[in-house]
Amino acid sequence: MPDVNRLWLLVLMMVAFGGVAHALDAEQRHGKALLERLCARCHAVGATGRSPHPQAPPFRSFGETKLYDEDFGQRLQDGLFTIHPDMPTFHFSRDDAAAALNYLKDLRERAKSK
Ligand code: HEC
Repeated sequence: MPDVNRLWLLVLMMVAFGGVAHALDAEQRHGKALLERLCARCHAVGATGRSPHPQAPPFRSFGETKLYDEDFGQRLQDGLFTIHPDMPTFHFSRDDAAAALNYLKDLRERAKSK
């Protein structure tokens, strides 16, 4: 993984310049961007706002059981989202699924601390 060093540098820099209210790390930003691109048409992706699709739950409402379920990341990769009639099928790469999950977990933590 060639990017690991750069990631660490970023993390170090963020720690060094700390105090910023809440910075997403590079992976989380990538995850968020993906979800915004693919899912925001129906789901509220961020910490606030309503889902554009009335039946689609906002991502911040996903509970621990879903986010920390081993299968969830796998399902992102398998494209098992066809279970919902309005939802198109997506296939995330392993890295993209990890990034998306990482973002969602972070979002969840922030929603909890409010
Ligand atoms: C075209 C609209 C649409 C798009 C795009 C969409 N969703 Fe959904 N999604 C829905 C709807 C509607 C539901 C609720 C379906 C239901 O409850 O039967 C849902 C439900 C879900 C659920 C809850 C399923 C469960 O097991 O409770 C998850 C997780 C989810 N979506 C993830 C995603 C992700 C990740 C993306 C982007 C990669 C995405 N969705 C894109 C419409 C969409």
